[in-house]
Amino acid sequence: MKIQSLRGMPDLFPDDLKKWHMLEKKLYQAFDAFNIQEIRTPILESTELFDRSVGNSSDIVNKELYSFLDRNQESISLRPEGSASVIRAIIQKKQEHEKHKLWYQGPMFRYERPQKGRFRQFHQVGIEYLGYEEGLSEYEIIALVIKIIDRLGISGSTLKINHLGDKVSKENFCQALQNFFKPHLSKLHKKDIFRLNTNPLRILDSKENSTQVLLKDAPNFEDFISDKSKALLQHISQHFSDQCNINIDSSLVRGLDYYTGLVFEVVSDELGAQDAFLGGGRYDNLSEELGGKSMHALGFAIGLERVISLMQSEESNLRKKVALIIVDEQDHEKTYKIAHDLRAANFDITLDAFLSNSSLKSQLRRANNTQCDFAIIIGSQERDTDQFTWKDLSEKGDQKSLSFQELMTLYKNL
Ligand code: HAM
Repeated sequence: MKIQSLRGMPDLFPDDLKKWHMLEKKLYQAFDAFNIQEIRTPILESTELFDRSVGNSSDIVNKELYSFLDRNQESISLRPEGSASVIRAIIQKKQEHEKHKLWYQGPMFRYERPQKGRFRQFHQVGIEYLGYEEGLSEYEIIALVIKIIDRLGISGSTLKINHLGDKVSKENFCQALQNFFKPHLSKLHKKDIFRLNTNPLRILDSKENSTQVLLKDAPNFEDFISDKSKALLQHISQHFSDQCNINIDSSLVRGLDYYTGLVFEVVSDELGAQDAFLGGGRYDNLSEELGGKSMHALGFAIGLERVISLMQSEESNLRKKVALIIVDEQDHEKTYKIAHDLRAANFDITLDAFLSNSSLKSQLRRANNTQCDFAIIIGSQERDTDQFTWKDLSEKGDQKSLSFQELMTLYKNL
């Protein structure tokens, strides 16, 4: 029996990864332009971290956490997202009073039912701005989101924004929702009753028909959030309206419990049911909930698998690629030396030394199939004349004989 990979945890092969590298490079350039620094945290954390941050009412903690006991009988979990770990790391380093602009990337794990765009191991690139109060930082974060969508060439996306108020307005609204639904509990699905008891806001994005009907007469969030919050939402929507397709969506509450203030998601119709490829918001209370000092926090994460599926064409690789073809086994040792000298002369060129004894014809076929631009050929004829054959693999197909010195000069200036 052959062993298979786990469900929802795909392998990524070199051909897939070309797009990934391009995506990662573009993201890193954007972070440099915004002076955002990288942070790396472990993939495993204590389960309590996610219980206390992502929240007991979220599906992630209830059903999706990969948790197990380690050899010391302590409950540990594979991280389902990155924000909780970043906050934990900053608290641990006692840096809550400082300002940070951070990015991270890596695999995340959620035990969800796999489907198109939904995996059990997936990858996020995330950003966290820490220590910045509500105001300017919201504008910079949204500007970064728009810049990223632009640079990745993703068209037809919509940025949905909403405001969840501050701690007090959120609590008041949640209380009003609970009071409103109390006489109607018998009409609610048990999932929604659970939501109502744990995080009532999540009832707003219920998919149940009966709940949706009741919600039409439910209290409105807008009546609970302050004028300042409403103004921020309106102003952000107006400010960016000529740069992207931006909508205020009052049912946007997000699946994680820690948000207060601005929340947002970027969706694309082309993704199908799992339509969000970026999501985030403000979560000013998390540091204190995790035992740290009070610290403002705002951020987002991009789902890389979903973005990859939206990215249009593969850009051609700008590096030139040369095949080093050696036909006779007796010249093998010479190849290693030549390959070493060529790489020393010009490291910006990809030199693929074909370590094989197959015929010249089949090695040339391989060079064409792997998109090499040129080939350097060493066969018996070349050995006899102490020359090298330089072959252009484009349509032109020119070919010339070069001395070692001429080859080095040409390669250096390629
Ligand atoms: P999230 O909305 O749970 O937010 O995830 C962010 C993105 O990760 C989603 O928009 C989606 O593209 C991708 N994603 C989530 N689950 C899966 C899955 N099972 N398969 C494939 N892609 C998935 C967060 O994780 C927050 N930590 C974002 C944040 C950072 N908020 C503030 N700072």
